Amino acid sequence: MSFIVAIDGPAAAGKGTISKAVAAHFGFAHLDTGLLYRAVGAKTLLGQDAVFAARALDPVDLEDDTLRTPEVAQAASQVAVVPAVRQALVDFQRSFAARDGGAVLDGRDIGTVICPDADAKLFVTASAACRADRRYQELAGKGLAISPEQVLADVVARDKRDSERATAPLMSADDAIVIDTSDLSIAQAVATAIAAVKAKRQP
Ligand code: CDP
Repeated sequence: MSFIVAIDGPAAAGKGTISKAVAAHFGFAHLDTGLLYRAVGAKTLLGQDAVFAARALDPVDLEDDTLRTPEVAQAASQVAVVPAVRQALVDFQRSFAARDGGAVLDGRDIGTVICPDADAKLFVTASAACRADRRYQELAGKGLAISPEQVLADVVARDKRDSERATAPLMSADDAIVIDTSDLSIAQAVATAIAAVKAKRQP
């Protein structure tokens, strides 16, 4: 039986950590849909056409270690504006969501466009300063030479582009449970998310 958990939110809000933990807790599969856009963005940095790259995307492309860089993140949010790119990625996401045994998908438009009938919808957010600080720690930890100011500018620019685009903009679904992680530890944020999903499983 399928059970779909949609987790959306702005850049670096903690969706990845929460999604992985929710998936592990319930034994569901997890898809980080941002990786699809990052993989397409990475291909455009190599000179490929975005729509061609989206249509030709191979799941193996998602395993590329370089997809987490800020440069690829910006390219991802640029290709994510293109309706034909988004369209090319719909079937893959919906098939993943419908798998037996349950699935968690995290992104920007999962609860609104990809899986509007998801069983549980979460919108995970935090202040821009908090999100930038966490992303800075993550990237600096990986040895990337980047300043906190650059990371904040990247996060703010992506949020603006993601929220203002015409197709599938970043927004909370009306029926999503909003979790602001600004003042929560990882353990608290994960526990809040798991409790919200549990409530949807046992109404
Ligand atoms: O990890 P982070 O929150 O920084 O970004 P991500 O989830 O990997 O997404 C990278 C970019 O892909 C976003 O800034 C969006 O422009 C785009 N994206 C999207 O448009 N729709 C999704 N479902 C997921 C990501």
